[in-house]
Amino acid sequence: MSTSSRKFEHVKLVASSKVESSESTLFEFVRLIHNPAPGLDLDDVDLSVSFCGGRRLRAPLMITGMTGGHPDVAWINESLAMVAEEFGIAMGVGSQRAALEDPSLSESYSIVRRVAPNAVLVANIGAPQLVRGYGVGEVLRAIEMIDADAVAVHLNPGQEAFQDEGEPSFRGVLERVVDIASRIDKPVIVKEVGTGLSREVVAELYNAGVKCFDVAGLGGTNWIKAEVLRSKARHGTPLKPAGGLDDYWGNPTAIAVVEARVVAPRAFIIGSGGVRNGLDVAKVIALGADIAGVALPALRALINGGYESLRKLVSSLIYQVKVAVFLTGGRSVRDLWKAPVAVHGRLREELELRGVNVSEYIREYRLKAILWRAGYEGGY
Ligand code: FNR
Repeated sequence: MSTSSRKFEHVKLVASSKVESSESTLFEFVRLIHNPAPGLDLDDVDLSVSFCGGRRLRAPLMITGMTGGHPDVAWINESLAMVAEEFGIAMGVGSQRAALEDPSLSESYSIVRRVAPNAVLVANIGAPQLVRGYGVGEVLRAIEMIDADAVAVHLNPGQEAFQDEGEPSFRGVLERVVDIASRIDKPVIVKEVGTGLSREVVAELYNAGVKCFDVAGLGGTNWIKAEVLRSKARHGTPLKPAGGLDDYWGNPTAIAVVEARVVAPRAFIIGSGGVRNGLDVAKVIALGADIAGVALPALRALINGGYESLRKLVSSLIYQVKVAVFLTGGRSVRDLWKAPVAVHGRLREELELRGVNVSEYIREYRLKAILWRAGYEGGY
């Protein structure tokens, strides 16, 4: 099956099926401490933040890459880009492999820049394609296609392993990503797709010069699950049954964010995977992310309720996070890194097992990150 029709099949299936894992993000083990006397007005809260060391967003939110590569999904990218433009948030397109293979499919991606001339837009390419022959030329073409501000490279070994026609080729992948990142003048964001980056991988990439990450952790859309469902829909029974890896394999988002921040103190980190409301946005930032990312909720809102419903979702997320900042007594998004937060139960236990001193992280480390950040650049 061609890449383009596979993309369309994915979107339809994901929007209408249960593709979220049974395992949670572990956000339920995080509580931001309520400040009953915030000492400022709600309207004093400023949500703006810069993206990957570059242009400013009006709110700390990104709709992460989902689609493109088929004329039938162009309207989805168009709508997501329009909402990004309207609210001043970032938006990514899905893997651009389809259009790199068949330039007649470019329109379903390039439409985003036409409707969002001012938004921060992010191109997208798969790490397996880099391993199997794509080079700087293809990455630059993907960037040019949407006049992107940055390019995301996705690591999706679980998805490739369970996809009927998957290509689980990851030999030498980190060297390849680092090499490409060093030869591109736009920021490269290394992302997962819902199974979560790990401390080890972020450390290796960060130490080799990669500065932006999207953890895309476990607890939201799960691509192992989506591929197994798709295979089942096609063949009656999945070609490669997942046996629990579809629900329980991966690094939960809350853990992935803290682990990334511990090893990449100055990096720009997008906390995503199972972010479903403004409280989740606030929690993921309080844990150490710069901004939050959502994918599936935006797609579902749009497909089930149309553009107005997508607008409503985005405006609600932004309002909710604004109130959350206010109720911790903060004035800016970055103040969430100073906000008192209780990390308890399984999240705390698992982080400790992974070598994170949680009390120190909450009390001192996030503050250090602010100081490192301040000495490092003008506002990122
Ligand atoms: C995705 N995701 C994704 N990621 C990527 O880097 N390239 C891609 O082409 C796609 N395609 C895609 C399609 C659809 C329909 C969805 C829902 C998701 C992954 C996405 O960017 C994100 O990392 C995960 O979905 C986790 O976030 P949510 O959905 O739990 O908010």
